[in-house]
Amino acid sequence: MSVAKKEYKRVTVKSLVEMKQNGEKISMLTSYDYSMAKIVDAAQVDVILVGDSASNVIAGHETTLPITLDQMIYHASSVVRAAKRALVVVDIPFGSYQSDSKEALRSAIRIMKESGAHAVKVEGGSEIKQSVTRILEAGIPVMGHLGLTPQSIYKFGTYTVRAKEEREAEKLKEDAKMLEEVGCFGIVLEKIPAKLAQEVAESVSIPIIGIGAGNGVDGQVLVVHDLLGMTHEFNPRFLRRYMNLYEDMSKAISEYVTDVKSRDFPNENESY
Ligand code: KIV
Repeated sequence: MSVAKKEYKRVTVKSLVEMKQNGEKISMLTSYDYSMAKIVDAAQVDVILVGDSASNVIAGHETTLPITLDQMIYHASSVVRAAKRALVVVDIPFGSYQSDSKEALRSAIRIMKESGAHAVKVEGGSEIKQSVTRILEAGIPVMGHLGLTPQSIYKFGTYTVRAKEEREAEKLKEDAKMLEEVGCFGIVLEKIPAKLAQEVAESVSIPIIGIGAGNGVDGQVLVVHDLLGMTHEFNPRFLRRYMNLYEDMSKAISEYVTDVKSRDFPNENESY
């Protein structure tokens, strides 16, 4: 079903709720730097997530845990300078909001003040309710993240599908309701059964954005490097690759090396 798309000069947290109400699906994609964010924004992606997945795809860490608040602020400022239309949401990194709500608020304020971003995202449900509430009370929009929450990977042990069992599914539904009630403007649901994700999306009035959560939610998010095929070793079932940039870039760079070695580059027209 195609839905008439309303034009937005700048997507806001209110626009996202409006999109859900109008049945317009929300597109969300990560970016971590100015050049990529410029392309993503010009392609009319509604929400740019400065994800802590930067820890994996940019810094090469195995998990999202090592990235620091200062590093997230650096990535976020670069993205904010590029984003003219999209809403920019920034992950508060692991260790910057879990210990108490004051620390959570301080971290959120630093992100908003020093990067110019529009909202923050945090992982978890009832365990972080106080922190979420405190950030919201300061006037900072908060997005939740439930299901597979990569900052808790050592608790889960694996990156497999979450909430397949009744108890975990029930907790996830309660957490989603709680996040809506305290005032979050949206929730990311990662790697959970499509049926459960649809049930959650239908039970709340705020947008539910899925990654590996099926098509019954209000929007989709992917890591841009995965979508472009730059991360060719990562092959989860939910990922649709729109390009194979790893291959194309490798070929281009090999050609450059050949041209330098053979003295073909630079030629006369490329010289002063
Ligand atoms: O950090 C990230 O990129 C994310 C998305 C996978 C939702 O949280």
